[in-house]
Amino acid sequence: MSSAASAPAPIRWPAEAIWQAVAPSLEGFTVEVLPSIDSTNTELMRRFRGSAGVAPRPEPTLLVAEEQTAGRGRMGRHWQSRRGDSLTFSLGLPLAPADWSGLSLVVGISLAESLGLPADSPVQVGLKWPNDLWLSGPKGESKLAGILVETANLNNMRCVVIGIGINIRTLPAATPTAPDAATSSLPAIPPGYLQDVLPDLDAASVLLRVLPPLVQNIQAFEKFGFRPFQARFGKRDVLGGRAVRLSDGTEGTAYGAGENGALLVHTAAGMKEITSSEVSVRPVNPAGAAGQSTC
Ligand code: BTN
Repeated sequence: MSSAASAPAPIRWPAEAIWQAVAPSLEGFTVEVLPSIDSTNTELMRRFRGSAGVAPRPEPTLLVAEEQTAGRGRMGRHWQSRRGDSLTFSLGLPLAPADWSGLSLVVGISLAESLGLPADSPVQVGLKWPNDLWLSGPKGESKLAGILVETANLNNMRCVVIGIGINIRTLPAATPTAPDAATSSLPAIPPGYLQDVLPDLDAASVLLRVLPPLVQNIQAFEKFGFRPFQARFGKRDVLGGRAVRLSDGTEGTAYGAGENGALLVHTAAGMKEITSSEVSVRPVNPAGAAGQSTC
């Protein structure tokens, strides 16, 4: 086989269309697509922080990577992805909300709503506090996407990097990784794939569908906080009313997100508000959880 025959087909990223949709409401916005980078979050954090001899660059940026060589998940986990089978991008921008609580939930709400599964679809996109999108349907639950929110202080402003990884279609068998101490006691959730429910969507069309509403929702969050999003989260909350276990061993029943985005869990010691994104929470009996996920 010639090398030309084995070269991967180019992905037609809708960079111009996204820029046209977003730039009028986000001054200085740029879109960049890279064939490969360690991690889009790491790169935007490097730019926001600056480094020896390189001044910090706080421009609002959408950074898309066709391949990540060191994709990162929450709590130091690895994020597995593959060119064309996954959508991996980060949106970085200066942000000044009065209260930052609930931002990752707003990102999840925006993604879930804009993916636009038909209302009568037997499978729906649910939100698993604080950072996951799950597919929930008759065959069980699986993890469709993950969100990693990080911030950098820059003089008197704060910049946020919102990293998003969406599984578009089946990845080759996941490479087993050592379970991390924080979550090894929690039931695993298998990966889920968007093309199983929306077969016509590929990574590029998903990006065009989700990015403009994401910017709008983040701007609404900056002005109004999490409160106007609380009910929208409730509609998709996959933990509500279920027995859950936290990574610190606490067990209880989940009661949705409060006005500030905290997870409410009724435990033997009373109602607990879980605010730390460093806490993992899982349903005690996730439906359809088969096998170990590295996502
Ligand atoms: C999680 O579920 O733990 C969060 C996963 C976030 C993955 C995305 S992929 C794009 C961006 N770059 C990274 O290195 N991570 C985020």
